[in-house]
Amino acid sequence: MPERKKRVYIETYGCQMNIADTEVVHSVLGKSGYEPSPTLADADVVLVNTCSVRENAEQRIYGRLGEFKRLKEENPDVVVGVIGCMAERLRSKLTDDFARGVGQIVDIIVGPDEYRKMPVLLDNAWHGEKGIAVQLSRSETYDDIVPLRTSGVSAWISVMRGCDKFCTFCVVPFTRGRERSRTLAGVVHEVELLASRNFKEITLLGQNVNSYRDGDHDFPDLLRAVARVDRSIRVRFTTSHPQDFSDKLIEAIASEPNICKFIHLPIQSGSDRILGLMNRTYSRDHYLHLVEKIRRNIPAATLSTDIIAGFPTETEADHSATLDVLRDVRYDGAFMFKYSPRENTPAFTMNDDVPDQIKSRRVTEIIELQNSISTDKNRTLVGSTVTVLVEGESKKSSDQWHGRTDGNKMVIFDKGGTVPGEYVDVCIGRSNSATLFGSIVQHSTSVEAA
Ligand code: 5AD
Ligand code: SF4
Repeated sequence: MPERKKRVYIETYGCQMNIADTEVVHSVLGKSGYEPSPTLADADVVLVNTCSVRENAEQRIYGRLGEFKRLKEENPDVVVGVIGCMAERLRSKLTDDFARGVGQIVDIIVGPDEYRKMPVLLDNAWHGEKGIAVQLSRSETYDDIVPLRTSGVSAWISVMRGCDKFCTFCVVPFTRGRERSRTLAGVVHEVELLASRNFKEITLLGQNVNSYRDGDHDFPDLLRAVARVDRSIRVRFTTSHPQDFSDKLIEAIASEPNICKFIHLPIQSGSDRILGLMNRTYSRDHYLHLVEKIRRNIPAATLSTDIIAGFPTETEADHSATLDVLRDVRYDGAFMFKYSPRENTPAFTMNDDVPDQIKSRRVTEIIELQNSISTDKNRTLVGSTVTVLVEGESKKSSDQWHGRTDGNKMVIFDKGGTVPGEYVDVCIGRSNSATLFGSIVQHSTSVEAA
């Protein structure tokens, strides 16, 4: 038996789902006598929770694994593991000595549905045995595992795993497998635990939360049940698919005061022809009607989206259609990417015929347009008072906090004797495309509004 607990350091890349999974892994390992390591240098086990969504994400991680070579030279006993989507996608390629020299560095490879096996794989690794577990499951949801979270204000809860949508560009159905949901009771129980620890914001996560199902319960039922646990907790959710966004969901968001009126609704492209090739299963008109319906029923709604520039065969006319949608909808924010071909996806067989230079120019145009819209929208908030949940210290000044509005706008303000987890009313003095700056007017009595 080791005289002290072995320490695990997990570096997390990619989406919020991975952040939530990292907490599941810490929990699984915690039950087997491991503890989280605050630093890489003190760790006995170093895990990289990886992302495969775009090529540049994988390149960064390869670079990082290369750096771990020195770590192993300095301390040959340290165990290095690759977990998450890249582990699933590349499997044994990662241990292949020819794979950019990372083969000797990596001891264990564990896909997103195999985290329960980690204690055994690590036991073997201590005896010099490399291990790989990458089976995808139709049922694994880790429903019974309470993720290991340090205390804080905001928590992620994954409510479902996998995706059955098969958008043609997306690697997720191959790295995270088929769609499956946790139980409503399991999620509510987790929220109760978080409430008792004074968490104030919960984000329900899934690749496509709108297809959540537990028996007769659908996603709006889950959202309402979570919102009712504790009205002082803000509830957010992501990601929504425009095809499955129901009237019942709009009604739930509109009527529960502590469900944030912020909706992330990826459109991907404004061209019906490209949406068809992407297998997104909705048209631009359907999407615009949905936005109109959301705004009619939830006047305070703020919206964000994802856009892909340069999908195979995208013409200047298709690109203009995307710019038009941005002008029509006037999103509060957007995540904008160049198309990146992913092996095994249906789009991989299409010719990636938009030259990189053109993809770059198009994505730059999209980003510039969206920035100017975000700047304009934020400017309209100058002079108003917004309710902000205090989250933590501003990166730029230890005298200031950062927090967000219900609509997910980042706000920076002087601390003024408040602490993280409190709601405060902040009067906005100035703004830019990404941030509002203001000063506290008073402690807030409400979690809603602005
Ligand atoms: N290339 C570029 N962007 C992608 N996304 C998913 N797959 C790809 C890809 N192959 C984007 C989509 C999705 C977001 C999470 O990542 O916009 O909504
Ligand atoms: Fe990928 Fe589409 Fe599923 Fe989102 S909905 S995870 S883009 S397949």
